[in-house]
Amino acid sequence: MSVLTHWQTGSLSGDVVRSARTVGDLLEYWGDREAAEAMASTPLYETETYFSKPDGTEGAILWGSTRLFPGTVGREYFMTRGHWHLKPTHGELIVVVSGTGFVALMDRDRKATTVELQPGTTYHIDGTLAHRTINTGDEPLVFWCAWAADCGHEYESIAREGFSERFISPL
Ligand SMILES: [Fe+2]
Repeated sequence: MSVLTHWQTGSLSGDVVRSARTVGDLLEYWGDREAAEAMASTPLYETETYFSKPDGTEGAILWGSTRLFPGTVGREYFMTRGHWHLKPTHGELIVVVSGTGFVALMDRDRKATTVELQPGTTYHIDGTLAHRTINTGDEPLVFWCAWAADCGHEYESIAREGFSERFISPL
């Protein structure tokens, strides 16, 4: 079954799965937990996913968008949870529709690098690197991703240890 991709808005229509996260859903991720608790119900990001095959299907490609809202928790810019792929051979393609920010990348030695995101940025995230996106602009950061259905997602170690770099707004 096909779905409709609305390129310019970052939305899908058809048989897709939608999810939404608030600042409070990522409570343990923020540097300033008190600030996070005070704005726990604030919308943080939304995703829409087209499961072309069931999650985990070898060789299948999944497709979806993320809308990461602008804002800060304390002075830390809004970000996604971030994760590792359990299969390091399986990367991910990101294509930015609108907004500005970064994708943060971190290797197993916790060495961090960043890639700047702007409308049109198209980038292949290496499957060996943990990755998360950060919105440093004042409008939603909207991007498409295509990834291997069997890449496997590991969130726990990011929740526990974080990334080695935080994105802090100037005073
Ligand atoms: Fe990923």
